[in-house]
Amino acid sequence: MEGHIQIITAIDHMQQQARRLLQTGKTIAFVPTMGYMHEGHLGLVREGREHGDTLIISIFVNPTQFGPAEDFQAYPRDLDRDVRLAASEGVDIIFAPEAEAMYDTAYQTYVDLELLPRYLCSASRPGHFRGVATVVTKLFNIVKPHVAIFGEKDYQQLVIIRRMVRDLHFDIRIIGVPIVREPDGLAMSSRNAYLSEEERESALSLFQAVQQAEKNVAQGVRDASQLIHEASELIRSYPYTKIEYVALCDPETLKNVDRVDGPTLIALAVWVGKTRLIDNTILEPIEN
Ligand code: PAF
Repeated sequence: MEGHIQIITAIDHMQQQARRLLQTGKTIAFVPTMGYMHEGHLGLVREGREHGDTLIISIFVNPTQFGPAEDFQAYPRDLDRDVRLAASEGVDIIFAPEAEAMYDTAYQTYVDLELLPRYLCSASRPGHFRGVATVVTKLFNIVKPHVAIFGEKDYQQLVIIRRMVRDLHFDIRIIGVPIVREPDGLAMSSRNAYLSEEERESALSLFQAVQQAEKNVAQGVRDASQLIHEASELIRSYPYTKIEYVALCDPETLKNVDRVDGPTLIALAVWVGKTRLIDNTILEPIEN
């Protein structure tokens, strides 16, 4: 239902508005995003709608989660389109702050987790999860939600946010939403916009590798190195691909496992041309 949507850019205005909502007994559901919305975001927004009287999304391309050689400047942005999409999904408020207000020139406070950020994406993106945990903490303090929604596509991010919320006693319920895929299986991502037609074909290798691992596990393969090897071979058979990692790990601690003896996360990061893509699923071995 398209309704009146409010766009707030000033941090103190957002805080004031959140306080007012809480004083009148409203619950707040929150979906943090970096904008350039696609069906994946809309899935988060629809889930958010179910969990609060007022639905707030943030649109903020957070500079502290990008490394110096990463795509912060190039990251796709289209606020007008995002506003239209959000309005058509019944979002009540968009919080879209300026980077200078979120991080002033004397800024110096960061939220860092000890262990979870060391695995998977951290090898290639040092400091990324420090930036994510920091901005999510700041957004929580500004928007004051009861519930916050995150996508399972960024699985490591979701595990980190859940741990941070527990560790810092945020009184916020975190909800994870399954990956939304294109009809051919490619996980939705704002970065898919970077892919050429040929690269788009090769990008399918991520989902195919995940599916192949699922099939292998269903057929009784339990050895992690065999599963990783076969997934990697499949990805390498496509042009333009360069594997950053294919990992099998514990879905909570993210530590690598040698065998699939219970629910196990398969997570992958693959460069397709100049675009870095990720995908994952939980492998569920069924014992006969
Ligand atoms: O998942 C994202 O889009 C971002 O990492 C988030 C959670 C909005 C923080 O900037």
